[in-house]
Amino acid sequence: MNAIPKASFSAEDLQKVRNFIYKETGMLFEEKKDYFLQTRIEQRMQATGLTSFGDYYHLLVFAEKREEILAFVESITINETYFFRDFGQLQGFADIVLPFYAESRRLKDGDSVSIWCAACSTGEEAYTLSIILQEVFDEMPNLKMRVDATDIDRNVLNEAETGIYSERSMKDTPIAYRNKYFVKAAKGWKVLKNARDLVSFSRVNLIDRNEMRKKRGYDFVFCRNVLIYFDDESRRKVVSYLYDALKPGGYLFLGHSESVARISAAFELERIGGFLCYKKPEVKNG
Ligand SMILES: C[S@@+](CC[C@H](N)C(=O)[O-])C[C@H]1O[C@@H](n2cnc3c(N)ncnc32)[C@H](O)[C@@H]1O
Repeated sequence: MNAIPKASFSAEDLQKVRNFIYKETGMLFEEKKDYFLQTRIEQRMQATGLTSFGDYYHLLVFAEKREEILAFVESITINETYFFRDFGQLQGFADIVLPFYAESRRLKDGDSVSIWCAACSTGEEAYTLSIILQEVFDEMPNLKMRVDATDIDRNVLNEAETGIYSERSMKDTPIAYRNKYFVKAAKGWKVLKNARDLVSFSRVNLIDRNEMRKKRGYDFVFCRNVLIYFDDESRRKVVSYLYDALKPGGYLFLGHSESVARISAAFELERIGGFLCYKKPEVKNG
């Protein structure tokens, strides 16, 4: 690999980039992350062949095509994920929430159920949700199930489409599901068609109001381990968009260290097993 040129940035330069990222993505990079940010700017300067910060910043912010914005954002996202992450929460979803939801809505074969996996990274979470839906509703062969998976980062979405995963990604996947939904490939494990069929991937920026407006009518939204990178103001916006994306009576699931406390009073809080989930209230008649 070529050595990364050591450009020098002033505190003001870094602040400009921090503000720009915040506006574009909702992610807040505190000053303690300056080293990380600096290395990413250097990498992108090298990739674009620019040697002065001023020129790079101009390309990033003012270029007519948004290509550099996308590439820069992709260089700073943290994409850590794996199958069946936060197993206890998913178990509660499978064993308690889904059966309760199906019963209370009198869900029958031929009806539909949809999940939005927002900030899906490389796809493990979306395929996990597809497996769960199929396992829970195995006696409803005509149920129309769908997992719409989105992320801001095109690179992870491409990986997700490829559907090949390392042993590390699979570490929490029960053996029975490995055998049923995966096949051993040269480089790890490949997701089989049965898990893929329900899932589609596309790019959505959680902070982009216009993109978020198009997401409507979901029974469940999973948005886990992304709001930790946002500040309260961005969280408030995103949580209100997620609220609008849910059907009345639908549920929002966040990561274990995330919560809507301080952010939104619109949801009903439910403690299921050892975890919290957020229900959009049913519409009251009369
Ligand atoms: C740590 S991963 C979480 C993956 C998965 N949800 C999980 O819990 O395992 C965070 C993901 O959020 C995505 N992300 C960050 N900011 C985003 C934004 N504004 N809109 C959509 N996705 C975003 C990143 O690209 C990254 O893939």
